Amino acid sequence: MILVLGALGQLGLELTQNLRQSLGAQAVLAADIRTPSDHFLAEGPFERVDCCDAAALEALFRQYPIDQLYYLPALLSSKAEKFPKQTVETNFIGLFHSLELVRKYPCRVFYPSTIGVFSADSPTLDTPQNCMMRPKTIYGTTKLAGELLCEYYHHKYSMDIRSIRLPGVISHQVCPQGGTTDYAVEMFYAAQNTKVYTSYLEADTTLDMVYIDDAIRGILQLMQTDRCCLHSGVVYNLTAMQFSVAELHAALREYYPDFELCFEVDPLRQQIANSWPERINDLWAREEWGWNPQYQFKDMVRTMLFHLQKQTHV
Ligand SMILES: NC(=O)c1ccc[n+]([C@@H]2O[C@H](COP(=O)([O-])OP(=O)(O)OC[C@H]3O[C@@H](n4cnc5c(N)ncnc54)[C@H](O)[C@@H]3O)[C@@H](O)[C@H]2O)c1
Repeated sequence: MILVLGALGQLGLELTQNLRQSLGAQAVLAADIRTPSDHFLAEGPFERVDCCDAAALEALFRQYPIDQLYYLPALLSSKAEKFPKQTVETNFIGLFHSLELVRKYPCRVFYPSTIGVFSADSPTLDTPQNCMMRPKTIYGTTKLAGELLCEYYHHKYSMDIRSIRLPGVISHQVCPQGGTTDYAVEMFYAAQNTKVYTSYLEADTTLDMVYIDDAIRGILQLMQTDRCCLHSGVVYNLTAMQFSVAELHAALREYYPDFELCFEVDPLRQQIANSWPERINDLWAREEWGWNPQYQFKDMVRTMLFHLQKQTHV
């Protein structure tokens, strides 16, 4: 059975749906600290759990025959700065409890890392897998520490742990919250509804992004790859597209010509964005497990608008 911790979030919800579609609803146990909708509860097994509570986590491992764990809980970059203690607990201590449990109840683990592990000291373009990484945010610090913890358990106990450094994820089912790349999704909603968006990032800020279907396909592809093909070890850079705030605005204006863009730059999020790469190098993911994104910028814009228009007409 697969355990998806943090199953109600932007990534978790669609990952859980995808896994359930291919393996059957009963094969995927969703868990989260929040209470789901009745609709979600009807779709398959769910347990309410705090990933920082080691005893509660162990109860899940005792009750269910878990053979894969997706550890998704986290406070994202901008929210994390407001709640550093909760961030350390959720992003790092919960992961530590989980990895300790996996020593006792062996299973394959997926840990989503982030481009937030890079920093102003890292190369901005073609950022390699291994380079200077000195994140100044609590999000980047805990996620990089999480990567190292995964590598430690992998090397020390031969545990099968796999991780991807995801860029900003663009999706339409769950609105992202608390991240630095949230503007990309917010702009789609604004273009459709209010026809005006006030950006917290400057017009020429460019960041790495991936469309949700590609992100999930990549995660599942990595999890299904034979361990012997993963020469690099545990963590892989991944990207699909890069665009600036102004470029997304221009693309959306092709569909909504009266869509306006204003600016009220948030110094915290701008500083975080400035410390992240514009385009990371994901050659190792492409070579070792066949990463090949299907959605480029224009495909992503067209697909997002298609889904959002469908939601409006339901
Ligand atoms: N969304 C992105 O753009 C992005 C980019 C890079 C990496 N990631 C990583 O992917 C993972 C998932 O991100 P997301 O965007 O889905 O985040 P999210 O905030 O949308 O979802 C996180 C989920 O975890 C749950 N959660 C929080 N604290 C918990 C706790 N103590 N116990 C149990 N559940 C708890 C939340 O209720 C939420 O449903 C995170 O680890 C994040 O660092 C996300």
